[in-house]
Amino acid sequence: MSSSAQQALTAYVNGDFIPLEDATIHIEDRGFQFADGIYEVIACFGGNFLDLQAHLDRLQRSCEGVRIPLPCSLDKMATLVQETYDRNPFEDAMVYIQVTRGAAPRSHLPQGKLTPTLIITSRVLPKPSNEKIATGIKAITLKDIRWKHCEIKSIALLASVLGKQEAALKQADEAFWLDEEGHMLEGCATNILAIIDGVLVTHPLDHQVLGGITRDMAIRVAKKHGLSVEERPWRLDESGLTEAMMSSTTNAVMPIYCIDEKIIGTGKPGATTMQIRNWMLEAMDALRRV
Ligand SMILES: Cc1ncc(COP(=O)(O)O)c(C=O)c1O
Repeated sequence: MSSSAQQALTAYVNGDFIPLEDATIHIEDRGFQFADGIYEVIACFGGNFLDLQAHLDRLQRSCEGVRIPLPCSLDKMATLVQETYDRNPFEDAMVYIQVTRGAAPRSHLPQGKLTPTLIITSRVLPKPSNEKIATGIKAITLKDIRWKHCEIKSIALLASVLGKQEAALKQADEAFWLDEEGHMLEGCATNILAIIDGVLVTHPLDHQVLGGITRDMAIRVAKKHGLSVEERPWRLDESGLTEAMMSSTTNAVMPIYCIDEKIIGTGKPGATTMQIRNWMLEAMDALRRV
């Protein structure tokens, strides 16, 4: 399906497939009232999902992290993801899953046994422009004002919305959160990795960062091709830092040329960054040929 067919999108909502424009949720859904829910974003190339099981496993961990029962088994979820994609089969697609605790009269403490809300959509995978890939992106840093469970892929994204707005006001593309000691954690919707003394460095997985599926992929391809990888706290002012990149499902890895008006390395996309990006794009391309 080409992207011009976007007007005919079909969504899955609580058991039914319906036209996107008719797809609605109860006003007392706890996702709407309390951001009481979690989500996933999965890329699909030529009808083949990238790391589907890893996304479903993370969805399960997120549900467990906020005590929302899984709305169905992971096998059933995989089938629903496939069916939603089949109804919106874009060559490069982005499947979005959201699970909330369900609808109930508003009360912080969930009353009784609620039925979780499950929605799934599939649309064209948004990608960075060729111009951005050629120049890299510009970013800012912000003190981390988020909650203390960033490993859960929660729909409570207000801090990230504000961070993105702050970045846009400064003509930047992403904002990266800093801990109290000035360590680089992750972005509003991306992980961040750097090349320091030739080593691929990124913050270790803990409650301060989301375990990005694309972060994992970057580490995996880097190791496969013989690059050293260190998962450790790191700072932007480390002397051996020559490259920085951000990772996410919609970006693969993207070079960063400037953070807080400070030029990174040569100010051009780093060679290792682009190498990692190309290894990842090759893997995505292989999915299109399955
Ligand atoms: C805070 C945060 N970190 C990292 C990521 C990247 O995760 P993934 O690579 O699984 O898309 C996201 C994606 O939405 C995010 O919101």
